[in-house]
Amino acid sequence: MNNIHVEDAETLGRKGAIFIAGQILARPEGVIGLATGSTPVGVYRELARLYESGWLDFSRLITFNLDEYCGLSGSDENSYRRFMDEHLFDHVNIRKDNTHVPDGMAEDLQAECDRYERLIADAGGIDLQLLGIGHDGHIGFNEPGAHFPAGTHVAELTELTIEANTRFFDRSEQVPRRALTMGIGTIMKARRILLLASGSDKKEILQRALYGPITPEVPASVLQLHPDVTVISGV
Ligand code: PGA
Repeated sequence: MNNIHVEDAETLGRKGAIFIAGQILARPEGVIGLATGSTPVGVYRELARLYESGWLDFSRLITFNLDEYCGLSGSDENSYRRFMDEHLFDHVNIRKDNTHVPDGMAEDLQAECDRYERLIADAGGIDLQLLGIGHDGHIGFNEPGAHFPAGTHVAELTELTIEANTRFFDRSEQVPRRALTMGIGTIMKARRILLLASGSDKKEILQRALYGPITPEVPASVLQLHPDVTVISGV
């Protein structure tokens, strides 16, 4: 595991973007897994800047997002599809039909999960997966539980996650209670993983995830078993 400590959020954004840019330069037609939340916002800003400066070409890149809320359409201001458009896709030359986010409005959610897994496999798998970490150790919406969920599935959000995500909504009752998320198996199949953790409030869970027992009670702890993980963390 490669651990990079940074002093501030701006540096985290820069170093995260440089790491992803390296992957895109090495394989411009490759497959990148993306994440939402506050932590990657600076990374996306820097990637857009690198594109504007002429350093990066997204025209052949394929992306898969980790997750999406159930019941929100892609045009909903709180959907992760909309988040990605606003923070990255609308600022670079990526083809929208090469960007994938699970469809939280699908009539048959299980069929949508199966379709998503197939799409990832058909694209040749994920070269580099970007991850944040929740205060309870979740990655994607894989919440603490009795086992590591394998594939893309419907997840029930925990109270802690609903509380944490309420900041993006007007009221906590508006936060969807369910989401579609890549499973731990989906994430672990990515060839490389970049985990970002920002803020002193993430310090303790990051320590437990990286150095504590490997347990589904701390879903991110499974990353200790992955052969190619880079962690960029700091305040
Ligand atoms: P955050 O979320 O980046 O908004 O802290 C991380 C996560 O819950 O995965």
